[in-house]
Amino acid sequence: MAALMNPASVLPADDAELAGADETIGELEIRLLMEAIYLRYQHDFRAYAPGLLRRRMAQARDQMGYEHLSELQHALLREPAVFARLLQYLTVQVSEMFRDPAYFRVLREEVMPQLSTWPSLKVWVAGCSHGEEVWSMAILLKEAGLLDRTILYATDINPQALQRAEAGVFPRDRAAQFSRNYLASGGTGSLSDYYTCAYDAIAFDRGLRRQIMFADHSLATDAVFSELHLVSCRNVLIYFTPALQDRSIGLFRDSLVRGGFLGLGSRETLQFGAHARAFEPIHVQADVKLYRRLPDAAPHDITPTTRRTTPPWNTR
Ligand SMILES: C[S@@+](CC[C@H](N)C(=O)[O-])C[C@H]1O[C@@H](n2cnc3c(N)ncnc32)[C@H](O)[C@@H]1O
Repeated sequence: MAALMNPASVLPADDAELAGADETIGELEIRLLMEAIYLRYQHDFRAYAPGLLRRRMAQARDQMGYEHLSELQHALLREPAVFARLLQYLTVQVSEMFRDPAYFRVLREEVMPQLSTWPSLKVWVAGCSHGEEVWSMAILLKEAGLLDRTILYATDINPQALQRAEAGVFPRDRAAQFSRNYLASGGTGSLSDYYTCAYDAIAFDRGLRRQIMFADHSLATDAVFSELHLVSCRNVLIYFTPALQDRSIGLFRDSLVRGGFLGLGSRETLQFGAHARAFEPIHVQADVKLYRRLPDAAPHDITPTTRRTTPPWNTR
């Protein structure tokens, strides 16, 4: 079956060999490009899923007007603006408020009451994209009466995404979907209580923003946070190889207090990873992947590998 689907198999022998060589050169170009990015900008994409890199780099090459990735690499080494553009291809920015409402319903009904037993709270939304997830989390904490005693960290490697996340402004035509998700997650008020409309945009309440700290942080190269009670890292690990997934889960495990919670995306799991035994599954079904850190998880040594040379983007 695989041979039938391989375009090389329908070419004459010499051409088939060349097609195979082209594919190998393509793979090599991607590896060299990721190495160049790492050496020049200290952003580490070397352990991202090969399928994602192939797809996204082919798009970037075509849309940015290069014939080969090695030409793109030449430009990128000399022009930080080229890297800034390429970063938009390397990072996938798809999100929604209260995405997978069943997940937020479990957080609302089961996790918030447990969190309320701690006198102060730290929550980390890792890979926050344009902010949909962290603004949803702030609303959830507010409705549980916990926001005032919580510090919410929202991190990403994409500075443009972080800037948008910090602004808390979204196109108005997304409001209906956000509201539907909010209600499906068990929200009893109206989402519009938390935003004001201005022309074609909605802007979330700055009172929610006061508790959120936005920061540049990479799961691929950076170190742990400390004493967290909940980590929500959804739809980020699917873009990583298993080795990088293990590094990230190790970070979460060492950042969480005993009994702290970890929420993953609907297509992500701890089951086959190196740290599975450090967590107990709380809810593992369809859209909800929620785990709790076991008390006896021994610390795991994860040291930061590099500091990126692009300016850190920190704001409060
Ligand atoms: C598909 S979005 C997920 C957004 C949100 N968590 C959700 O589930 O709706 C993936 C995000 O992960 C970020 N990301 C990619 N690599 C990362 C890394 N090494 N460290 C932190 N964030 C990363 C991307 O920039 C992007 O904002």
